[in-house]
Amino acid sequence: MTDKILPLLGRRSVRAYLPDAAVSEAELRALLEAAMAAPSAMARDPWRFLVLRERADLAALADLLPHGQMLRQAALGIVVCGDPAQAHRQEISYLLQDCSAAVENLLIAAHLLGLGAVWLGVHPNEDRVTGIRRQFGVPETILPVAAIAVGRPAEAPEPRTRFNPDFVHAGRW
Ligand SMILES: Cc1cc2nc3c(=O)[nH]c(=O)nc-3n(C[C@H](O)[C@H](O)[C@H](O)COP(=O)(O)O)c2cc1C
Repeated sequence: MTDKILPLLGRRSVRAYLPDAAVSEAELRALLEAAMAAPSAMARDPWRFLVLRERADLAALADLLPHGQMLRQAALGIVVCGDPAQAHRQEISYLLQDCSAAVENLLIAAHLLGLGAVWLGVHPNEDRVTGIRRQFGVPETILPVAAIAVGRPAEAPEPRTRFNPDFVHAGRW
């Protein structure tokens, strides 16, 4: 049965990319389409996406993300943001859940397309949130939640399971 979920187990963080290997507009469209197919509370779709392709912009984002240095070699950087006014009950928690689902869908799509990608933490690091707003003209009303580096993979981490039966409570905790 686990072989049926191999495409999911094969989604791994890829942090090394081939130099000068572009991601096409059609691939970018597919990534964004996958992201926007994620579950969203009351289907409010509060996610918004800032797409960075210019080398200088990728370097500027890397300057803001201490654990995002692979962005310097990436073909694409995507900052997943949320609009709190559009979230279910205007609650940040719903916004974060919706945006996280979008990030995961995008990562799985990247893997299915043969691309490499990694989730880069932004929220709740206030310096990263304000730095991204300032650098890329994101309005104060919009919350940058996470960034994703995407490129043609130069490494191939093995599929793996992290299943742990200790984390599962059957019937009653
Ligand atoms: C909220 C969040 C923030 C993360 N931030 C970073 C990051 O800043 N840099 C990075 O290289 N990986 C980051 N990761 C990726 C995790 O390190 C990675 O998913 C984890 O080690 C499991 O490995 P896998 O993705 O290969 O299964 C982040 C993941 C999540 C969910």
